[in-house]
Amino acid sequence: MKIRHILPSIAAFLLVSTASFADDGMWLPSLISQRIADMQAKGFKLTAEDIYSVNQASLKDAVVLFGSGCTGEIVSKDGLLLTNHHCGYSQIQQHSSVEHDYLKDGFWAMRRSEELPNPGLTVKFLDRMEDVTGIILKGCQETMTEAQRDSLVRANSSALMKQATAEGKGLRASVEAMYYGNQYYLFVYREFSDVRLVGAPPSSIGKFGGDTDNWMWPRHTGDFSMFRVYADKNNEPVAYSEDNVPYQPKRFLKISTKGVKEGDFTFVYGFPGSTQEYIHSKAVAYTAEISDPVKIDLRTRRLDIQKKYMSASQAVRIQYSSKNASVSNAWKKWQGEAKGLIRNDIVTKKADYEKRFEAWAHGTRYEGITTKLGRLYDELEKYSLAVDYYSETAYTTEIASFANRWVSMASREVSTLDEIMKLLDDIKALESSFFKDYYLPIDKESFIAVMNVFEKDMAQDMKPAWYLEQLASYGSVEAWAEEIFSKSIFRSPASCEEAVRTVEPIVAAGLGTTLKEGTMDKALEFFKADPAYQFYTNMYKWYTTDIYPRRTELNREITLLMRDYMNGQMEFEPHKDFFPDANLTLRVAYGNVGGYSPKDGVWYNPVSTLKGIIEKDNPEIFDYNIPQTLRDIYADGIAKGGAAAEKVKNQPVCFLATNHTTGGNSGSPVINADGELIGLNFDRVWEGTMSDLAFDPSFCRNITLDIRYLLFLVKEIGGAQWLIDEMLGN
Ligand code: ARG
Ligand code: GLU
Repeated sequence: MKIRHILPSIAAFLLVSTASFADDGMWLPSLISQRIADMQAKGFKLTAEDIYSVNQASLKDAVVLFGSGCTGEIVSKDGLLLTNHHCGYSQIQQHSSVEHDYLKDGFWAMRRSEELPNPGLTVKFLDRMEDVTGIILKGCQETMTEAQRDSLVRANSSALMKQATAEGKGLRASVEAMYYGNQYYLFVYREFSDVRLVGAPPSSIGKFGGDTDNWMWPRHTGDFSMFRVYADKNNEPVAYSEDNVPYQPKRFLKISTKGVKEGDFTFVYGFPGSTQEYIHSKAVAYTAEISDPVKIDLRTRRLDIQKKYMSASQAVRIQYSSKNASVSNAWKKWQGEAKGLIRNDIVTKKADYEKRFEAWAHGTRYEGITTKLGRLYDELEKYSLAVDYYSETAYTTEIASFANRWVSMASREVSTLDEIMKLLDDIKALESSFFKDYYLPIDKESFIAVMNVFEKDMAQDMKPAWYLEQLASYGSVEAWAEEIFSKSIFRSPASCEEAVRTVEPIVAAGLGTTLKEGTMDKALEFFKADPAYQFYTNMYKWYTTDIYPRRTELNREITLLMRDYMNGQMEFEPHKDFFPDANLTLRVAYGNVGGYSPKDGVWYNPVSTLKGIIEKDNPEIFDYNIPQTLRDIYADGIAKGGAAAEKVKNQPVCFLATNHTTGGNSGSPVINADGELIGLNFDRVWEGTMSDLAFDPSFCRNITLDIRYLLFLVKEIGGAQWLIDEMLGN
């Protein structure tokens, strides 16, 4: 009995001592058996098969890719799903109006029939993943160029994906490169498209602290929303229908209300989007010293303009809330990232590493690789900068991208009257979804602000010729803006309608039993001459002809070298475990609950409480103005004194842990040593946002919403006891 107990721990000890296990890493679930000894050493009590199994239901069956960039988890046998408030934000916004402002007031379905459908929203369950490197690289030769290799890899991948999705409803597949293409994995998902909104707290809770607290600790955000996955009568994925029934998952997460304390084991199971942990010092320098500052400056200007109009009108506030949140989120993250990279001297550290690497690589096939990479990054810089400018200026002009979408839709092949009528309907739908959230003064002022920066800061020889001509003819960005925003067809629903009426005679003249060849082209000429459309197309053309090809070529060469450099790093440090960079595939990150020191003389505790919310509460400050109900609950508890007072004060809200996470991990389940759900991941700390490029376990922390705060809110603020029963009664 005793010996059986001791043997595995000796084995675990041996494993731990041969490989140097660090806290960082986002590990592939199918290979988690390689990490399980370390996980167990840190406190985990379950097995690798509990995390990922192809033979039986495992924790992976309760985790989903929510939408296109968040994670969610299933918490009941009836497909109830939890994710972040900011992940469900655009759905909550879509259902909101000035009369029913769910963003402001929250939303709680009190029965299943009140749950709200969300066209376009999907969730994906991972069915299986497998190493398919051999299949994908079949036919690849050393002598091939990177472009030739790329196209072969693409062809092999699509054949494999086709095969993988042939059987079964809702199957989706993707092949993803790991370690810069040293390995390839096939991921097969089941995608569900009837996903309904069940509940969301008011933004004053779900987004408490707003952009002031975003990316920071101490944090007190109730960042969650609830959805439910629906299926057909056979439990298969199907499009929305009233007759659909709640999906019965293979596995759902059991909730633990036991709580956490410093040192407790935790793991995050989710879909981290993108990291670059193994890149060259020059790439880090570009991010920290050039790219982040440029993008921050451009976004500051747009955010100021949005803020001005949003605070002046509730309607505009609703219209731009989702857009504003996403613009400001990256804006703030870049600030923390650039600061962290500089403060921690990451460029120098990477450069030192490269020196040591080269000393080791002397005489091997890796010799000189970092120098070659450095040269490529030097050449890449002006292209990267052009992309940064383009994507944060011209590309952000809403009216221009709408014009482009409008014209592409109208370019659809039509010949019969029925088809023409259908097209007109689709165009109307496109217009109403665009104008619902469009406020021209914001777009116009932003255009003027960012295009003036483009004019001033962009290298003259990198500017598009078309742009220079136009600017010269208008005389100023302001005059150009006048032309676009007061004359464009695409400036209002009325002007769109009028323009359609103008071309009606052209279409009518070309319409017999079918439409005469070329009729639509003639009608479209009118729209294509539009100044907003012209702006979009010509700037885009510049991007695709002058910037994109050379940049892609350079990036290909970089990837090719990185593939070797990756192998080289693995040989250089044979005892280190290298996880593949995040690429929006399912990963396991694990660590322990823990505080950190943000600066000299300061220690941050890893747990925040309701008391802290009350301390921050201030009706005068938008980000800190909590609902009166929450104030009342707190005051009631305090008034009762004794245990009741202690209870409200110590109501847990958020906690910190050392799990290595990134964007995409939002909404990820945070799981305890027993495999139970203890919270929802939703952010990282300011000092640690540099972790996408360089994770440092001494201060990089993920922020989790404590599941006990979620339960408290559903009950006390939502009054939705039925959901509590569903979550805890399983
Ligand atoms: N920083 C978190 C993430 O990257 C939360 C963002 C939503 N909150 C906000 N205030 N914009 O997604
Ligand atoms: N809030 C982020 C998201 O949307 C997660 C935080 C992070 O980047 O770590 O995925």
